Amino acid sequence: MTKKSTSGSSKTGAAKASTKKPVPAAKTPAKAAAADKPASARTVRKAVEQKEAAQDVGVAQPGAGTRKSRKRVPPAVPGGDGHNPFRSHMRRSRAPEPATLVIFGATGDLARRKLLPAVFGLWQDGLLGSAFNIVGVGRQAMTDEEFKDYALTALKESKETDAIQPGNLEKFRELLYYEYGDFSGDEVYDLVGKELDRAEEAHGGRKNALFYLSTPPSLFEPISSGLGRLGLADESEGWRRLVIEKPFGRDLASARALNDAIHKVWDESQVYRIDHYLGKETVQNLMAIRFGNAIFEPLWNRGYVDHVQITASEDLGLEGRAGYYEEAGVVRDMLQNHLMQLFALTAMEAPAAFDADAIRDEKVKVLRAVKEIPKGRVKSVAVRGQYGPGTMDGEKVPGYRQEPNVKPGSPTPTYVAVKLEVDNWRWQGVPFFLRTGKRLPKKVTEIAVVFKRPPLGIFPGGLERNVLAFRIQPDEGVNLKFSSKTPGQEMVLREVVMDFRYDAFGAQLESPYSRLLLDAMLGDATLFPREDEVDHAWQLVSGILEAWDGVSAPEFPNYTSGTWGPDAADELIGPDRRWRRL
Ligand code: BG6
Repeated sequence: MTKKSTSGSSKTGAAKASTKKPVPAAKTPAKAAAADKPASARTVRKAVEQKEAAQDVGVAQPGAGTRKSRKRVPPAVPGGDGHNPFRSHMRRSRAPEPATLVIFGATGDLARRKLLPAVFGLWQDGLLGSAFNIVGVGRQAMTDEEFKDYALTALKESKETDAIQPGNLEKFRELLYYEYGDFSGDEVYDLVGKELDRAEEAHGGRKNALFYLSTPPSLFEPISSGLGRLGLADESEGWRRLVIEKPFGRDLASARALNDAIHKVWDESQVYRIDHYLGKETVQNLMAIRFGNAIFEPLWNRGYVDHVQITASEDLGLEGRAGYYEEAGVVRDMLQNHLMQLFALTAMEAPAAFDADAIRDEKVKVLRAVKEIPKGRVKSVAVRGQYGPGTMDGEKVPGYRQEPNVKPGSPTPTYVAVKLEVDNWRWQGVPFFLRTGKRLPKKVTEIAVVFKRPPLGIFPGGLERNVLAFRIQPDEGVNLKFSSKTPGQEMVLREVVMDFRYDAFGAQLESPYSRLLLDAMLGDATLFPREDEVDHAWQLVSGILEAWDGVSAPEFPNYTSGTWGPDAADELIGPDRRWRRL
């Protein structure tokens, strides 16, 4: 573990700290106050045992002081020692090299709620190697000490933080630094460069850096270019990688322009576009089930599949994000990225290997095979919706247009359902129905492969379609619905469900950000969409955006909060099929 003084004077460029203005009291993050969090992981013994086995091949543990002996006594509450048993499988034969994680937008919402807890969890579980530190970068003036306080408060407050082992917050605090400035100038990047020099002095070795852009999209290009101007994308002194949050562009043209601007500085192999859905355990399980078993793949085609439904429904409304959402709407926020990725993983061919290029090649191929949706076709294959006021969990909730900072009469859609047709041999004639929306009855993400009915009915009653459903969240798992005889004299069939639930593994699921951050540190781009994937996903939604952007639907709002979206979605799926009741 890297030991550093927490005082600003330990830095190279000692004068730097004095140039910083203190943050006005009102903006100063609350001082760390609460005691360490209690254990929250729901885990069972099996996972703890797996973890213990894995520890034998583990990397240097930052919190190694707590782990003197190899044989650890399991905690009274599994996971209660602060280590996340689910991460045991993340131990790899190689640990990341010493590196600095530079988070641009370090005091923003995403960093506070997701990134810092994810990094802390990885560090606490010893997955970040023996020499690692974090430089927060923002536009807000803050000293190192204030940032450290801020980050620790965030860790204590976030629901995503693992149980904290005694003393670990204080050790983690030592890894944190902060720089601030104007992202269009040079000075802030110069300061970041000095942080890398300092880290190199402390760690020895090369100056590896992962730059994470957790900022508003308008800053992606200025930061990427600024890092380039100051030579920070140059890999002669260590690897340099750029992680970019979504949304990647706001349409095809701007995504292409952003890719071009980024490629002036970075090689594609250095760019990691993040889509957190790909970091979800159950999304990866889709590949495991498809390609790790012999029984599914033979059925995975037009011969057996009637249609596929991909649903990402959310019960939440805007959550105070009007500034972003009014510009984005549901097509940019969910369809172009998360749902298209789920679609591509479901529909793609088997890759030749489980590696970044092989998988991404297959995803691109199937995205290319989707029948185009020019503006003129939108009416027949896509439905939009906007939620009106309603009641959820017994409480009245406002409609979209009544949400704070939403324009009266806003045309922004909060629901979309779309039918994709894939023009290839495997899927010809098999529609893929994708739907997502806010203020639907519950939060659930699911991929359901609905099979054809049996060709002949020899029993009384109708014939049902078998369904293989991948529950991405919550109640993560996979289930297969099929017909079975009900007990008794009569030959009566009823649908039954064979259910595999992820909690059978006995561990809480990993935050997608942990997985993706670690992969980026290790240089594994498998779970990050490549430039051409993002491009094709934009191409697919371009006609929809053209048809809907800025044009209000006369029927808006057209679904009541707490219901399953507009009636037109039922017409889209057709009379012989129905949306799954989730
Ligand atoms: C984000 C969207 O990318 O994904 C949000 O911007 C949405 O609007 C969220 O709520 C959903 O993610 P998850 O992981 O909660 O399903």
